[in-house]
Amino acid sequence: MANYIALALLVLPLLQVVVTAGEPNIQDYTKRFEKKESCDLYHGSWVYDKSYPLYDSSQCSFIEVSFACQRNGRPDKLYLKYRWQPSACNLPRFGEISPNLVRSQPDLVEMSLDLARSRQIRFDGIDFLKRLRNKKIMFIGDSLSLNQWQSLLCMLHTATPHSEYKSERIGPLSTFTFTEYNASVMLMRNAFLVDIEHKRYGRVLKLNKLGYEKTWDGIDVLIFNTWHWWRHTGREQPWDFIQEGKHLQRDMDRLAAYEEALKTWARWVDTNVDPEKTKVFFQGISPDHSNASNWGNHNGIECKGETKPIFAPAYPRHHPAELVVEKVLRTMLKPVHLLNVTRLSQQRKDAHPSIYGLGGHYGMDCSHWCLAGVPDTWNQLLYAELISK
Ligand SMILES: *[C@@H]1O[C@H](CO)[C@@H](O)[C@H](O)[C@H]1NC(C)=O
Ligand SMILES: *[C@@H]1O[C@H](CO)[C@@H](O)[C@H](O)[C@H]1NC(C)=O
Ligand SMILES: *[C@@H]1O[C@H](CO)[C@@H](O)[C@H](O)[C@H]1NC(C)=O
Repeated sequence: MANYIALALLVLPLLQVVVTAGEPNIQDYTKRFEKKESCDLYHGSWVYDKSYPLYDSSQCSFIEVSFACQRNGRPDKLYLKYRWQPSACNLPRFGEISPNLVRSQPDLVEMSLDLARSRQIRFDGIDFLKRLRNKKIMFIGDSLSLNQWQSLLCMLHTATPHSEYKSERIGPLSTFTFTEYNASVMLMRNAFLVDIEHKRYGRVLKLNKLGYEKTWDGIDVLIFNTWHWWRHTGREQPWDFIQEGKHLQRDMDRLAAYEEALKTWARWVDTNVDPEKTKVFFQGISPDHSNASNWGNHNGIECKGETKPIFAPAYPRHHPAELVVEKVLRTMLKPVHLLNVTRLSQQRKDAHPSIYGLGGHYGMDCSHWCLAGVPDTWNQLLYAELISK
């Protein structure tokens, strides 16, 4: 990162020297650079990379059967070969460099393109573990937290395959410790973040009361997530009433309930987190792909048989729950970093288990992600955010 900035500092003033009236783009980039506009890692594209995936899923025994697509017989492998490539941020992209500049300064142009290419997010598992020495990182949320947690375990285990580890589960809390580093990677299952109370008259989802928040104390990195369970109805809905303040009701607008619960969570963060000690992330909304018409496959059955990402610019779009998350985060006093993975994941209709989850050819899972796969990218982004702070 530091090298990148140093080189960019070197290149950009040079680019400015050769700017002429017909080349406003280069000037714009220089101006943006001077304003220190930060690089948005979430803006970019999926590119084919033959060195992918980041690990061999058959070498990672922690993967839950429902994410183990290859083991479950998924025949295609192209979906494993895509790397997330953030756009070059302040550096000109190829199409934006004028032919004039290419003629007059070919070396310079080549150099800035090299910089753009080198701007890949990387993952150094040993470095991650060293930073996590004597520390704890915890994912809190639903099975998408489980998905990302298992991905991180595989990425770290692959970096140090002979290192000893300890794994235990007590109720909703799973702790995986890399003994050599005394580094704990934890998962707290808590689908709503707020509490469900069992009363005589039924199960009550309490929008103004958290559940299990005591387990969040003293953790160095917290990564929260909730959304998918807020949509469930009928037999899949694990509550009978919703309580908002003193008001008990059978049901309400789900996005409004979600927002209320997030505000309850936000108050906990604002009151309890010391940003010097604890870094807080929100794992962005993970999109599912259950309507093939959305990407123009009118005969498609959810995500079944999809083997390529969506490259069309009209899709992805704003996810309603993502807008709620962003709205709540904007009101917060303490820094919470959004892992803004919704858009980049929306493009990956090819990366769900579909019929290759749940240990065989039944069920259709277009919500979770195969491992290796998309959650590995979320963890690369998490790592990039952790090392940039
Ligand atoms: C291991 O890490 C925990 C914090 O995660 C700390 O309380 C404990 O003292 C550490 N143990 C050793 C032997 O350093
Ligand atoms: C699926 O998507 C299409 C096109 O975007 C839309 O017209 C249709 O209502 C959607 N179906 C469902 C069940 O949401
Ligand atoms: C997240 O990404 C979306 C889509 O790219 C963007 O509109 C939004 O501003 C981003 N949010 C944050 C907090 O960066």
